Amino acid sequence: MTPAKVPPAGLVRAIERVRHHLRRVHQRAVPPPAAMLEMILGAWVAQGIAAAAQLGVADALADGPLRPEELARRVQADPDALDRLMRALVGEGIFRRTRDGRYALNALGDTLRKGAPVSIAGMARFVGSPQHREHWSHLADAVRTGEAVIPKLRGKEAFDYIGSEPELGGIFNDAMTSVSELAIAPVVAAYDFSRFGTIADIGGGHGRLLAAILQATPDAQGVLYDLAQVLDGAPDLLTKYGVAERVRVVAGSFFDSVPAGADTYIMKNIIHDWPDDKALTILRNVREAAGPGTTLLLVEAVIPEHDREFLGKWTDMEMLIGIAARERTEDQYRKLYQQSGFRLTRIVPTASPFSLVEGVAI
Ligand SMILES: C[S@@+](CC[C@H](N)C(=O)[O-])C[C@H]1O[C@@H](n2cnc3c(N)ncnc32)[C@H](O)[C@@H]1O
Repeated sequence: MTPAKVPPAGLVRAIERVRHHLRRVHQRAVPPPAAMLEMILGAWVAQGIAAAAQLGVADALADGPLRPEELARRVQADPDALDRLMRALVGEGIFRRTRDGRYALNALGDTLRKGAPVSIAGMARFVGSPQHREHWSHLADAVRTGEAVIPKLRGKEAFDYIGSEPELGGIFNDAMTSVSELAIAPVVAAYDFSRFGTIADIGGGHGRLLAAILQATPDAQGVLYDLAQVLDGAPDLLTKYGVAERVRVVAGSFFDSVPAGADTYIMKNIIHDWPDDKALTILRNVREAAGPGTTLLLVEAVIPEHDREFLGKWTDMEMLIGIAARERTEDQYRKLYQQSGFRLTRIVPTASPFSLVEGVAI
């Protein structure tokens, strides 16, 4: 498999800054109530995208443009209502209409296809699900109390609740896979892993990130560590990416211990799932396993100092609502590192919203 082309992180940040200023110009060009209304009604656009994903519109258009009645027949929708939804989406740049009035995929619409290279259909359906909508409707309570919404509303911890709802659980897994996939190529492009002999991915799921790193470092060995029930899916994935023979798959809980002896420990989107006390337990267990001088790499959406848009400022709210966890700033990661026997050495930006928080065991 050829590695995906990734633009330099600096170029992406420069484009983000330009986009930020254009957005501010746009906001100031209309009366403030109109600018505010536009942002509030973004919820309708998101729900329209979710509906298209639920109906499978992009999959129905995968073989070519369709007349509105034929599209409605394929996705089993009311022809008039679907035509009106498509008109609204096309207005947002999602799907397009051909000169002869048929609906067709375009680049944005294609991201809702289940088989797209990186499909966002799962995320659209998760964010548009009645359950997720209900959780977010309690954001003010979460902010008032600093407590998670899901346990109070559902009587269970978030991951138990999602696991107990089969359809929602499937959508959630699809959503996490697609968002994670977006970060893999930028992370591998941003960091030189070739100096490490053994790379351990702690909480590595089925091993997608580890597989991508090992493909880029043909001489390295890998250790994949996660809960036993999660690792069932690992061998197929590692075989698919041709790295199975270089990976030792180890089951266990990072709250108990972590496999010893790796040259670097990487954890992607793990620490942001936990409040500080639990995060410190995990990091101290990694430190127990890691000899002095060993590299620690967290892949996280590190909240920047600036006051511009940043996706992590919203995933931070998602963490609060679900599990009373959080995204963190560089200073907050530095403090966690100090308290667990590491020294934060640098933050390595990537072309995605994720950075590598590099540290060394002291
Ligand atoms: C948000 S996912 C991140 C997965 C992967 N690193 C990624 O970025 O795609 C959190 C991972 O932590 C794992 N996990 C949760 N609790 C764990 C524990 N006690 N010990 C080991 N892994 C755990 C989950 O099974 C899951 O794979």
